[in-house]
Amino acid sequence: MIDLKVRIGKTIFKNPVWAASGTFGNGEEFTDFLKITEIGAVVTKTVTRSPRRGNPVPRVVETPSGLLNSIGLENKGVEWFKKEQMPFLKELGVGTIVSIAGETPEEFVECAGKLTGKNRPDAIEINLSCPNVFHKGARRRLFAQDPKITEKITKAVKKKIKCPVITKLTPNVTDIGEIARAAENGGADAISLVNTYFGMAVDAEEMRPVLGNVTGGVSGPAIKPMALAAVWSAYNEVSIPIIGIGGIMTGLDAAEFILAGASAIQVGTANFIDPGRCAGVLKELKEYLNRKKIKRIRDLVGKLKV
Ligand code: SIN
Repeated sequence: MIDLKVRIGKTIFKNPVWAASGTFGNGEEFTDFLKITEIGAVVTKTVTRSPRRGNPVPRVVETPSGLLNSIGLENKGVEWFKKEQMPFLKELGVGTIVSIAGETPEEFVECAGKLTGKNRPDAIEINLSCPNVFHKGARRRLFAQDPKITEKITKAVKKKIKCPVITKLTPNVTDIGEIARAAENGGADAISLVNTYFGMAVDAEEMRPVLGNVTGGVSGPAIKPMALAAVWSAYNEVSIPIIGIGGIMTGLDAAEFILAGASAIQVGTANFIDPGRCAGVLKELKEYLNRKKIKRIRDLVGKLKV
C-alpha cells in the first residue's frame, strides 16, 4: 500500500493527481469518463466576483504538441458557482479547489469571501496568471509578473478565508523564483505553476491572427520542458509545497514533476484528448512508485539526482 496523501496547509488530499482549472469543467461533466472521487482534487474553472462574457471567438486552436486558448475567464460569477456547482462537488466528496480571479486585488478578496461557510472548498487557488485578461491599475500585464502585488493579493485573500490558499503563477517572467518567494511571503500555503505561456497563431492565407483576441496561452506537451524547469527553480527558492502543471499526459510525466520538486500535479490539456486521463495518470504513477519501491509519495518530492 503506497501512502499517496498530500498535505496543503491543514488540508489532506488523498493523492497528488488533480484536474487542472479550465480543463475539467466543474467536475460533473466528467462523471461518465472516470470515478472522480479517485483523483486527489478537482480545481474548478476560474470564477470571478461578477459574471464575465470572455473573449471574442475563436478562442481555442491546436498547435504542434499543444493547445492555444484565449477564453478570457468566461464564467457565471462566484454566487452562481457556490449555489449551483459546489453542492454537487461536496456531496460527491472529491477534494475541491476553487480557482478565483479578479480585476483588482479587492475583487479577489470579495470573491474569496463568498466561498466561506457551508459548502466551502478544501482550498482556493488564486489565479494571478491568466494571460488572456488585463487588470486595472496593474503595473505589469499579469498580477503574477509583479512580486509586490503577488504578495499583496495572497496576503489579503489569506486574511479573508480559513481554507488553504494556493497562488497560481505565470511562467511569463524572468525569474520565477522571485515570484514564488513573494507568494510564500504573502502566506500562500502552496504555489501552483505553470499557467500557460503567451503565444499566438497566424493564418498566413487570410493574413489574420487565428484567435479572436490575437494572443492566447499555450499549454500541453509542448511546454513540459519549460514547466519542469520552472518547478525546479521554484523548488530551490521556497519551502511551501509546489503543485506542478504543464503538459502532463502520463504517470511518468507526473513522476518527473514530483522529482523536480512538485508535491502534487495537475493534469490539464490531456483532459481534452482523453477525459479519463486523470485516472490513467494516477494508475501509471502508482505503477511507477511500485516499480521504484517507493512507499510514500513525499519521499519522491525533489529527489532529482543532480
Ligand atoms: C482563460 O479563461 O482565458 C484561461 C484561464 C487561465 O489561463 O488562467
